[in-house]
Amino acid sequence: MPAEDGSIEIVVCLGSSCFARGNSEILAALQQYVQSKGLKTPVRLAGCLCQDQCKQGPNLKVGSEFHHNITAARLRELLQQLDGPSRGEYVKA
Ligand code: FES
Repeated sequence: MPAEDGSIEIVVCLGSSCFARGNSEILAALQQYVQSKGLKTPVRLAGCLCQDQCKQGPNLKVGSEFHHNITAARLRELLQQLDGPSRGEYVKA
C-alpha cells in the first residue's frame, strides 16, 4: 500500500542474521534495480534492525507487508509487481 504521497517504502532488515543470510546482496540488487530500471512508483529505501523474525530471513518489508526468505529472483518478482519499468524515481532514505 503506497504512502499518502504515492511512494512505496521498502525496508530491508540489516540485522546480523538477515545480513549474513543475504540481505547485503539483496540491498545492492535492490538499489541497482531501482536506479537502472526505474519504477513508476517512487520508492523510498530504508534499513531496519532485527525484527525478531530471523529464522525466516532474509526479510524485507514492502509497505506494511513483510516478505521472508528473500532471494534475488523473489526480489525481482516483488519489484515487477510494484509496476514495472518507466520513469524511475529513487529517493535515498
Ligand atoms: S536479523 Fe532480520 S529479523 Fe532478525
